[in-house]
Amino acid sequence: MSETNFARTTVTAALIYANGPIHIGHLAGCYIPADIYVRYLRAKGHDVAFISGTDEHGVPITIRAQKEGTTPQEVVDKYYVQIRDSFRDFGISFDIYSRTSKPEHHEMSQDIFRQIYDKGGFVEEVTEQYFDEKAGQFLADRYIIGTCPICGNENAYGDQCERCGSTLSPTELIHPRSALSGEKPVMKPTKNWYLPLDQLQPQLQAYVDTHPEWKTNVAGQVRSWLTEGLKPRAMTRDLDWGIKVPLPDAEGKVLYVWFDAPIGYITFTKELKGDGWEGWWKAKDTRLVHFIGKDNIVFHCLIFPAMLMADGRFIPGADNVPANEFMNLEGDKISTSRNWAVWLHEYLEQFPGKQDVLRYALTANGPETKDSEFTWKDFQTRNNSELVGILGNFINRAIVLTEKNFGTAVPKRGILTEIDQSFLTDLAAFPAKLGESLDNFRFREGLALLMDVARLGNKYLAETEPWKALKTDRAANRPERAATVLNLALQLSATLSILAEPFLPFSAEKLRGMLNFNEKNWAKAGHPDLLPEGHPIENQGLLFQKLEDDVIDAQVQKLLDTKKMNELATKAPAPQKEIIGYDDFAKLDLRIATIVAAEVVPKSKKLLKLTLDTGLDTRTVLSGIAEHVSPETVIGKQVTLLANLAPRPMMGLESQGMILMAEDRDGKLQFLQPGEGVWNGGTVS
Ligand code: 2FM
Ligand code: ZN
Repeated sequence: MSETNFARTTVTAALIYANGPIHIGHLAGCYIPADIYVRYLRAKGHDVAFISGTDEHGVPITIRAQKEGTTPQEVVDKYYVQIRDSFRDFGISFDIYSRTSKPEHHEMSQDIFRQIYDKGGFVEEVTEQYFDEKAGQFLADRYIIGTCPICGNENAYGDQCERCGSTLSPTELIHPRSALSGEKPVMKPTKNWYLPLDQLQPQLQAYVDTHPEWKTNVAGQVRSWLTEGLKPRAMTRDLDWGIKVPLPDAEGKVLYVWFDAPIGYITFTKELKGDGWEGWWKAKDTRLVHFIGKDNIVFHCLIFPAMLMADGRFIPGADNVPANEFMNLEGDKISTSRNWAVWLHEYLEQFPGKQDVLRYALTANGPETKDSEFTWKDFQTRNNSELVGILGNFINRAIVLTEKNFGTAVPKRGILTEIDQSFLTDLAAFPAKLGESLDNFRFREGLALLMDVARLGNKYLAETEPWKALKTDRAANRPERAATVLNLALQLSATLSILAEPFLPFSAEKLRGMLNFNEKNWAKAGHPDLLPEGHPIENQGLLFQKLEDDVIDAQVQKLLDTKKMNELATKAPAPQKEIIGYDDFAKLDLRIATIVAAEVVPKSKKLLKLTLDTGLDTRTVLSGIAEHVSPETVIGKQVTLLANLAPRPMMGLESQGMILMAEDRDGKLQFLQPGEGVWNGGTVS
């Protein structure tokens, strides 16, 4: 349903785990769409609260602490600040960005748990769970790793397979092992409190049925969960990092992170709104919208609504959950562990002041209906051909032509021609069209329409040619025509500043500065009289700058280097050969020799003919390294030679030994060279 049927909208954006920096996939999947939407609602004068923060509990945090050799508290303290600052720097305009480790959140989560418990909403059950005897710990969620029964991924987690996106339970994993010790776990009984999703299924089904308007990727996932039949899900865990279960017989147990995390939306609203918070979660005329990535769909569309229903005091579920799919990077899945990402803090260092360029590229290519892909070439094209070539170009022409010919004020409008009238009619239609796209969470389409507004401006200038009119008008001492055209071009610029604000807030602000125009009200966009005659304007330079090839190539190279590092790290070492005795080894005459001459072997792609000074003699060795080194670069190098290998005829020559080589990370062969001060003929033993 549209927000106009409601008095206020609570918009949430996923509480990301505070266990690492954030990257473009996070922005594209959830935070940029959410920010565009909220800025748009604000521009329409709608009452909106934009809520987010970090998720600071759960196994992802403790595993990170273990990896960094620190405590979970230090991990969340460090990443909360880094994540919050990245969002702020990219203009994500949260009304509050808080954290689930705050005492107020512990209280709120425990209160909701108790309410459900008191209403008999949990099923208490003792079950056998995986236990790591070496670590002395139950293995919840990501503490247990194994092979995914669906896709065969050998590193699937106990709660989810990140390769195929399936939600799993630990006992479904094939060959389970502990993430703590790598050991095979044993089964041990433990008591937990389950939310009986099976009993709540009819209510959940009815709720989902009232929302046929949900995006197809969201509706599809939800439907498949419901068709499969929901199962009870444990809302407690045997862990020590988290929110204590508020029951007397729950020593050593904490709330499931997916129980407390979405409650964070409520706690943070309370932190933001004080006593008025309840209206944002309980009033019937409040609309709730969750922005998330596709891996969070089940939690927001079924489990959190089930919790709210079981509690009974809140709006029972969101009105819409416009989840996105994932964004890939240069042909591969974004991955923190493989460093296959564009990190926001690094982007800001390398492209200072260019937040809007990334916002633009990520929205234009957003994974709205299916996974999409970020490439640096696309980023460059979007900047150079679209932002610079279309939007920046129009604004620059409108402002520079005005300043040069009429000074720093909006010129007077004369009589409007048919072209002018039709231009104004076209312009007036845009805000509603663009609004319809945003109302329906079609951000790519909305952005394309924004660019069409700039295109309309360019077309208008091309048709009216004010630069020509200026010449003829001046000759006739009659500057009205060009003045009229530029007046209208500036009216369109003012509309652009309103319509661009949700998508490109930094550039919209700069444009407002140039136009001395502080209006953000969407209802005003498309109006022909936003800037009165004589209104001061000021050229403050280009809105967007061209990105040169070398800047983009450097980013591509950085990723290629990462890929090489990863390949090296994952290259399986060759298995060890069969054991030999010392006598076998002693038979090898390994010694240091110097290459004194080198030449290619005619008709051979691979062989170099090397002349070696072995200390004993000077001999010829044929070596298969022609594709890895050039002859002139190897002369004078000391190498390791297997001197007593039986001579072998090759390409009409005889090779009297073999030089030892090792493969480097690029797959190139490198000589095994001694350190300083080793003489020719020195033996290797
Ligand atoms: O996937 C994640 O990063 C989760 N921490 C998202 C939680 S969203 C909400 F429920 F808090
Ligand atoms: Zn899988």
